[in-house]
Amino acid sequence: MPNKPEPKKSQARPRISVADIRARKGGVPLVCLTAYTTPMAQRLDPHVDLLLVGDSLAMVVYGMKTTVGVTLETMINHGAAVMRGAQRACVIIDLPYGSYEAGAELAYASAARVMKETGAQGVKLEGGVEMAGTVRHMVGRGIPVLGHVGLLPQKVTDKSGYRIQGKDDAGWKRVLADAKAIAGAGAFAIVIEGTVESLARQITETVTVPTVGIGASPACDGQILVTDDVLGVFSDFTPSFVKRYAELGPDIERAARAYAEDVRNRRFPGPEHCFPLPSPRPKGKA
Ligand code: KIV
Repeated sequence: MPNKPEPKKSQARPRISVADIRARKGGVPLVCLTAYTTPMAQRLDPHVDLLLVGDSLAMVVYGMKTTVGVTLETMINHGAAVMRGAQRACVIIDLPYGSYEAGAELAYASAARVMKETGAQGVKLEGGVEMAGTVRHMVGRGIPVLGHVGLLPQKVTDKSGYRIQGKDDAGWKRVLADAKAIAGAGAFAIVIEGTVESLARQITETVTVPTVGIGASPACDGQILVTDDVLGVFSDFTPSFVKRYAELGPDIERAARAYAEDVRNRRFPGPEHCFPLPSPRPKGKA
């Protein structure tokens, strides 16, 4: 393995705190992406304000059909890996399904483990009005919480599925109430996923903490996407709200094909990839 690269100048800047994120309400939009590994965190870190170790890794990394199956241990392992790679970004880790919904004490215990074992700046959890008491309990005990309202991937197994939220009056009012409840409970920011644009705009104008949109609105205080979608690596499906900035999937296939052809035709390894025996020293020389 090559030596560890020297930290770049940009990485020497102090880490962005949740207070910094909170202070960005209405300012320059927050740039957020997901990360699951050390090398990816190293590459993204100089360019983003916040890295989310999202439970989307269940699908993107582990090939699961939904995010429901991922465990707290898995999130902690990936969270620690991202913390090893990110020097500057605020790192937030998703609490996975089943690790917080049963009550405030469970949520606090899961979040405290995440914070202690990874060193991350905070946790994210999904839900609205029904989670507000839990968020208040956690925040009151020193756990910074990023909320998540609108389309809730951990609840795809109920009848809401992956449907865009806020299309009817009742849905609109529900998601707005959810965002207000989570902001009121002390979340430092709120992810709004998969809602009609005008609802995300309304939430952003209503709550005093930053909103981070994904399939939401350009009016949000920031944006987040799943990095593997942005890079064109994860191609099982691409939601319409994703903009692809690269097509690395085909590049990976091209590289694998070229390597396979080289190996089969004995073009790899070449002499430069082999270790020759050191030539014997001439007699009498030290
Ligand atoms: O799990 C995840 O990656 C997320 C973001 C897409 C917001 O929750």
